[in-house]
Amino acid sequence: MPLSLPRRPPTFHRRRQAQLPLRLDAGCLIDMLSESPPSCLRRNLLLSLLSLLLLVSVYCLLLLGADDRSPLSLGRSSLYWNSAAGFPSVFLPSPVVNLSHVSEEYKLEKVLKAAAMKDGTVILTTLNEAWAVPGSIFDLFLESFRIGDDTRRLLKHLVVIALDMKAFQRCLAVHSHCFALVTEGVDFSSEAYFMTADYLKMMWRRIDFLSTVLDMEYNFVFTDADVMWFRDPFPQFFIDVDFQIACDHYTGDSEDMENRPNGGFNYVQSNNRSIEFYKFWYSSRETYPGYHDQDVFNFIKYDTFVTEIGLKIRFLDTAYFGGFCEPSEDLNQVCTMHANCCVGLDSKIHDLRILLQDWKRYSSLPPTLKRSLITSWRVPQNCSLDSLRQYDVPMNNTQ
Ligand SMILES: *[C@@H]1O[C@H](CO)[C@@H](O)[C@H](O)[C@H]1NC(C)=O
Ligand SMILES: *[C@@H]1O[C@H](CO)[C@@H](O)[C@H](O)[C@H]1NC(C)=O
Ligand SMILES: *[C@@H]1O[C@H](CO)[C@@H](O)[C@H](O)[C@H]1NC(C)=O
Repeated sequence: MPLSLPRRPPTFHRRRQAQLPLRLDAGCLIDMLSESPPSCLRRNLLLSLLSLLLLVSVYCLLLLGADDRSPLSLGRSSLYWNSAAGFPSVFLPSPVVNLSHVSEEYKLEKVLKAAAMKDGTVILTTLNEAWAVPGSIFDLFLESFRIGDDTRRLLKHLVVIALDMKAFQRCLAVHSHCFALVTEGVDFSSEAYFMTADYLKMMWRRIDFLSTVLDMEYNFVFTDADVMWFRDPFPQFFIDVDFQIACDHYTGDSEDMENRPNGGFNYVQSNNRSIEFYKFWYSSRETYPGYHDQDVFNFIKYDTFVTEIGLKIRFLDTAYFGGFCEPSEDLNQVCTMHANCCVGLDSKIHDLRILLQDWKRYSSLPPTLKRSLITSWRVPQNCSLDSLRQYDVPMNNTQ
């Protein structure tokens, strides 16, 4: 049951060159504020950041009220709320992270090699402390592989990229391929305050890291840890495509650039085109300061550079790669389900638990019943976007 929210206006993409709408997050809430006058945001990075923070604060106050102490997670990312202050912590842009990690590369090579499939493909996810603690997202993620249809064997190809030491320790305790991507001087543990410098840094750090993985000639499936794996996705992937990505909203055409991709799940072949593309994507953060990787992807997917290098992009059908924005309706077909379009880490965990229960119930049915029964998910429940509507926040992009 897809959420029946208003479609975004068709003019959306045409504005991309001249006036960038202010867009806040991966997933469903990206365009919540996109109708804000962009004039105040141009050029001056500091001004942009301050405006952004102000808007985020106003939005968050509207959204949460003063007494909400839960971590806030929008789209595909976990956002932490400073409950004491009631405001997100504000960071001024700090010096660019030193991205040279030559010494790490040897260790990384070893971890990737140990996990890779015969064709050099690895499954990658990133993890921070908040998602790694027992009972949180990471446990549910691993459980999905165990209860999924022949997905348990994929765990031996999964490499967990821990963004802080607690997440690394937790990974080592429960999984065999762990890598600590700990950036000097930056703590990604739990306080990935939404759209602050650190939040953006964490998102961009990931793109830079994935770029390194491609350089090392590994193909990867990148999956957020709040994507539940119920079936092997490989049979559903396109052959001979460089970059394929799941969607919050799927238009019905895998080649349609108007699809709403979600960076939380993608499959990338390592070759000259994808390597060039990731470098271009990463460097584009400077062209579009203040935006995160998924937004920037939506800007650059039209760029002539992408056509010139001949990168082949495809969008994955939500029938197989669904989420709370647009659930996979048929449990006989679903491969993955993503807890996108969800506000609050507690809500996310709540609904993912129900999702796993639904799957277990479906799995225990005899084969004939599986095929004939019209089974559907009982979620989203707490992840529903209804709760947002009462605040009259413009939701023009939350299919
Ligand atoms: C990054 O760190 C390395 C060694 O740790 C150093 O040689 C290099 O100059 C640094 N780069 C930047 C841009 O600070
Ligand atoms: C990338 O391009 C170089 C030459 O530009 C070529 O030698 C190399 O084989 C290519 N690598 C791949 C993986 O296509
Ligand atoms: C989920 O929603 C129900 C009903 O609105 C509420 O009672 C419950 O506290 C919520 N749970 C979480 C974890 O948000």
